[in-house]
Amino acid sequence: MKAVEMYQNGGPEVLKYEEAAKPAINPDDVLVKVYASGVNPVDYKVREGDKRYAGAFPRILGWDFSGVIEETGSNVHGWKRGDAVYGRPDINRNGTYAEYVAVKANEIARKPGSIDHQSASGVALAGLTAWQALFQHGQLQPGERVLIHGAAGGVGIFAIQFAKWKGAYVIGTASGKNVLFLEELGADEVIDYEKEDFSDGPADIDLVLDTRGGKVQQDSVKVLKPGGVLVSTVGIQFPDALKAKDIRGAAFMAQSVPADLDQIAKLIDSGAVIPVVSQIFPLREAAEAQRVLEEGHTRGKIVLQVIE
Ligand SMILES: NC(=O)c1ccc[n+]([C@@H]2O[C@H](COP(=O)([O-])OP(=O)(O)OC[C@H]3O[C@@H](n4cnc5c(N)ncnc54)[C@H](OP(=O)(O)O)[C@@H]3O)[C@@H](O)[C@H]2O)c1
Repeated sequence: MKAVEMYQNGGPEVLKYEEAAKPAINPDDVLVKVYASGVNPVDYKVREGDKRYAGAFPRILGWDFSGVIEETGSNVHGWKRGDAVYGRPDINRNGTYAEYVAVKANEIARKPGSIDHQSASGVALAGLTAWQALFQHGQLQPGERVLIHGAAGGVGIFAIQFAKWKGAYVIGTASGKNVLFLEELGADEVIDYEKEDFSDGPADIDLVLDTRGGKVQQDSVKVLKPGGVLVSTVGIQFPDALKAKDIRGAAFMAQSVPADLDQIAKLIDSGAVIPVVSQIFPLREAAEAQRVLEEGHTRGKIVLQVIE
């Protein structure tokens, strides 16, 4: 099969588009023919050698896919060859920058039927993250005020739409070029971080979703109500400041929960949530796709087209 492999950590140039062995499946796995793969920040973090995700070489990056089941393991029930599925495979295994991926059957869900594979390939990782941040770790309730940082990014576009669907009052931060875009996605307010300091606002926020860390996280404490919650995708960095204001801090790693994927697919198929793909690269240009994502200003998702 064609795949993008790497033999060492480093910059985008370590990614090699080449012929690789088709993965073997375990009894609990399905083999998926990958039609498209999402590109996520974790991909370049693993490429650069983030110790949390150390693994053996050669390694195939990418943990976000949409495709069709080619083969099922002997323990797998409920799935068959030809089923269209999507998901976020285990980051400790080889990933989805490849024509085939072996993934546990209990980590996948039926692909949203109303969208194509390219759009679906950018949903699982970012969608699960936004879903679990707001509803599992943040316990977001209708009517609450939520502030979403990095609202125009992969996680942010789902978070804005999920929070709005839940009935929250939704505020997002982004640069000026994304203000209208986020209003169209449903944000009640958008703070242009190039012109305004979000932390000048009143301390009336129930939930902050922090996708940035650093000063953004530190300043978020100022606008949270006592008793509020700060959910971070990048770790809690100022625990004492949170404690002093009686704010709960929650850092987490998104999990592949099929029930969550089913809910997300349902919202997409109902039209309540729209995936946003801003750029599609062919698989062979995975290195360029990562270069662009690493600049940090992607709107929605970048995906790789694997099957023409
Ligand atoms: N813990 C987990 O399980 C988990 C899961 C997924 C992601 N993550 C992490 O979460 C982070 C975000 O992921 P992502 O996929 O959303 O990244 P992304 O798509 O690369 O985010 C890009 C977005 O960030 C916005 N941005 C840049 N600087 C900003 C600022 N100062 N304030 C507000 N927005 C800003 C950009 O908007 P503008 O162009 O308008 O600036 C752009 O739309 C990454 O570090 C990722 O590794 C963690």
